[in-house]
Amino acid sequence: VVPEFRGSNWKGSVTSRSHSDIGDIQKISTRGSQATCSSCQSLFRGATTFERQLSVELNPGSTSVPPGGDLLHIRAVENNDTLHFLFCSQGAPALLLVHTNSSSSTVQVNWPLFSARNTSGSLKVVPESSVLYSTAVVFSRLLEYDDTNNTADPTSDFFPPYELQNFTWSRLNLSGPTALLCGTDATFTNGSLCLKLSVFDSEGRGLSPPHLLHTSNSSQMEVWLDGLLPRANRSRFLLELQAVGGAYPLSRVDTRRSIDDEFTPSIFKVSQWVSAPNGSSDVLGFVQWKPVAYRQTNPSLENATPCRHSDPRPQNGEVMAASSSLIRAFYPEPEPFGLNMSFGLSGDPFYNNTKYLSWTVLVGIGSPPVDSFSPLVIAIMAVGLGTPMILLLLGGLWVCVRKRAACSASSYQPIN
Ligand SMILES: *[C@@H]1O[C@H](CO)[C@@H](O)[C@H](O)[C@H]1NC(C)=O
Ligand SMILES: *[C@@H]1O[C@H](CO)[C@@H](O)[C@H](O)[C@H]1NC(C)=O
Ligand SMILES: *[C@@H]1O[C@H](CO)[C@@H](O)[C@H](O)[C@H]1NC(C)=O
Ligand SMILES: *[C@@H]1O[C@H](CO)[C@@H](O)[C@H](O)[C@H]1NC(C)=O
Ligand SMILES: *[C@@H]1O[C@H](CO)[C@@H](O)[C@H](O)[C@H]1NC(C)=O
Ligand SMILES: *[C@@H]1O[C@H](CO)[C@@H](O)[C@H](O)[C@H]1NC(C)=O
Ligand SMILES: *[C@@H]1O[C@H](CO)[C@@H](O)[C@H](O)[C@H]1NC(C)=O
Ligand SMILES: *[C@@H]1O[C@H](CO)[C@@H](O)[C@H](O)[C@H]1NC(C)=O
Ligand SMILES: *[C@@H]1O[C@H](CO)[C@@H](O)[C@H](O)[C@H]1NC(C)=O
Ligand SMILES: *[C@@H]1O[C@H](CO)[C@@H](O)[C@H](O)[C@H]1NC(C)=O
Ligand SMILES: *[C@@H]1O[C@H](CO)[C@@H](O)[C@H](O)[C@H]1NC(C)=O
Ligand SMILES: *[C@@H]1O[C@H](CO)[C@@H](O)[C@H](O)[C@H]1NC(C)=O
Repeated sequence: VVPEFRGSNWKGSVTSRSHSDIGDIQKISTRGSQATCSSCQSLFRGATTFERQLSVELNPGSTSVPPGGDLLHIRAVENNDTLHFLFCSQGAPALLLVHTNSSSSTVQVNWPLFSARNTSGSLKVVPESSVLYSTAVVFSRLLEYDDTNNTADPTSDFFPPYELQNFTWSRLNLSGPTALLCGTDATFTNGSLCLKLSVFDSEGRGLSPPHLLHTSNSSQMEVWLDGLLPRANRSRFLLELQAVGGAYPLSRVDTRRSIDDEFTPSIFKVSQWVSAPNGSSDVLGFVQWKPVAYRQTNPSLENATPCRHSDPRPQNGEVMAASSSLIRAFYPEPEPFGLNMSFGLSGDPFYNNTKYLSWTVLVGIGSPPVDSFSPLVIAIMAVGLGTPMILLLLGGLWVCVRKRAACSASSYQPIN
């Protein structure tokens, strides 16, 4: 496993490099020569990053507000391809990404069948021949256990799980390409579980920690649990996720070392749950996160708490399809894998301490973004390495000059 893992590591970093640094320069030069600058703005836009044009549509094709919950569709179009982001609150919250090789592909929904949640094919991306890849993630359950001995070992003492498909979800609160969804359960006392989806038109970083690096090929989902009264004083939580991914399931999690930079201090790892052909390092789709959650609304290093994931395991596709309208409608026979994300390690404060927990994850297609050194770190390194270098050089010069002086002095002496 290790050498293969290394291989994918290198590949990832090389492709990312070529996009961010070399790619930009090449783009400027080709664009500049091929057209005599039809518009300087487009040259600039092409030069900065890979961009997609976003358009947001709530409940596409529906004449009325669907009773069971909303379906958000964000189209992200590039020259010759389109990425469709679909986020649905009918049942357990689900996010579906469909990549097509056409800039004119669209989404078609048969609403009565979609909401009845019993027929696959009621949501289509057309033309169907343009679909290259799709992946979906369902946030299926919230699990709570009583960690009486503070071992953070989630094997026993589970309370009955909160099934997210049975939650009462708010209408989607949209603002640009972000959507906020909050829900509660009949058994929830005073709290809510919220999900915030953000889709991006270009490369960038999340505004708050863990400041995940994103591209226009990925979307970010922030999940938080606010104000819930735990069922034990020493309760800890897990979130169960299920994912499907086209021809290749999301069957393995790669954990890489990451750079400890100014964006997520003290976090040295990044994990990605990937869909990849057997033994190949080419990733088709991914779910990526840094193993950290935050215990307060203002995330910072002080309230960070580590998280761990379980190994992805095959799940029952019928159960997954039944839990979400979106999955039922799009996938005839999903073959999901699932994992549990558990928050907090032994010795960390319990949920009761702040009654707040937030975690951020990226869902996308293609190779996951790879962190590189930030300009600040490069500057610090340049100063750190450059100063001794200059001192060494100056020292060398000084020694040389002294030696020369000594040499010439000694060469004179015999004559005298
Ligand atoms: C997009 O497709 C057109 C023709 O279909 C082609 O001329 C053009 O080079 C393609 N652009 C990219 C970026 O692949
Ligand atoms: C799906 O559900 C609807 C309404 O609940 C029902 O009328 C329809 O017959 C069902 N279709 C199938 C194929 O089960
Ligand atoms: C898009 O992909 C499909 C299936 O891979 C292929 O048949 C079709 O020719 C492609 N279209 C374009 C414009 O590349
Ligand atoms: C907690 O520790 C006690 C004493 O060591 C042990 O009897 C008990 O089974 C432990 N409880 C759990 C849930 O592990
Ligand atoms: C959640 O909903 C499913 C399907 O409607 C139902 O079978 C299950 O009993 C519900 N679970 C709870 C805890 O209410
Ligand atoms: C929608 O979200 C904004 C902030 O994102 C908030 O100020 C507003 O109250 C929310 N609206 C509703 C109806 O929840
Ligand atoms: C629930 O919230 C209300 C108002 O915010 C508060 O008065 C009440 O004490 C809370 N209940 C619990 C159990 O925390
Ligand atoms: C996004 O995906 C498209 C299509 O696969 C690819 O051409 C492009 O390079 C990707 N962009 C980034 C920033 O990874
Ligand atoms: C939680 O702890 C408090 C005191 O620290 C105690 O009064 C209360 O009964 C405990 N609650 C539960 C559910 O154990
Ligand atoms: C949990 O919270 C309750 C109410 O805020 C408090 O009474 C109790 O002492 C807390 N328990 C612990 C272990 O902090
Ligand atoms: C991948 O490997 C698994 C077992 O290792 C096998 O069941 C599956 O058919 C393989 N898939 C492909 C596409 O080769
Ligand atoms: C998550 O943990 C619960 C409780 O241990 C378990 O029942 C469930 O199967 C786990 N889910 C996955 C996907 O591993």
